[in-house]
Amino acid sequence: MNYRLAYSIGFHPWEDAASEPEFTRKISQLFDREEQGRQPPYGSALDLGTGSGIWGIQLAKRGWQVTGIDIVEKALERARDRVRDTGVDMRLVYGDVTALRAAGIGSGFRLVLDTGTFHDLDSAQRDAMGREVSAVAAPDATVLLLVWPKRRRPLIRGASRVEIEAAFSGWKVTHVEASHFRLPKILEVLLKPGEQWYRLRRV
Ligand SMILES: C[S@@+](CC[C@H](N)C(=O)[O-])C[C@H]1O[C@@H](n2cnc3c(N)ncnc32)[C@H](O)[C@@H]1O
Repeated sequence: MNYRLAYSIGFHPWEDAASEPEFTRKISQLFDREEQGRQPPYGSALDLGTGSGIWGIQLAKRGWQVTGIDIVEKALERARDRVRDTGVDMRLVYGDVTALRAAGIGSGFRLVLDTGTFHDLDSAQRDAMGREVSAVAAPDATVLLLVWPKRRRPLIRGASRVEIEAAFSGWKVTHVEASHFRLPKILEVLLKPGEQWYRLRRV
């Protein structure tokens, strides 16, 4: 996916997930699990490929200290507007998920969220992202990855569990769960998302 082009022409169907009750219910359950038994503030969270910041903002509203990173300036512009309109405190950083330390992102993140970036990276980028996340995540961190299964389709590569485990060595998959994300009918038929949440914890 050419995200620069996509944002420049206003093509960002992934944002529609925010208005799908089943998707939002599921993602809230995932956040609940990470907050269980604790009181806000929950600690720092990192939203990888934050786009217009939708999910990072949700985490900030819930009581996380959130940093979002993206490599497309137009996406970050939208995120800045959304953060300002929502009135939450969320840090936004321009940078590459494969070079988090070089982007000055910080460290000690208890929750690392990726809603749709990892699964379209190539294999070297995935390895780099896994390495960088391992370097900046707290020892007790959780990683939540939203991933389309690997399959022949235009635009998005998708990733298999084996590929996820290879990129995140030192982590183990604890849960794989349906996201209930639905694209508009025509894109659903064309792209067959079949999207799933992967939850990872350190070994
Ligand atoms: C499918 S969109 C999801 C955006 C956002 N997480 C959401 O759910 O609304 C993927 C995002 O990853 C960003 N992205 C892609 N490759 C990246 C990279 N190497 N480093 C940082 N961001 C990247 C894109 O610019 C885009 O905003």
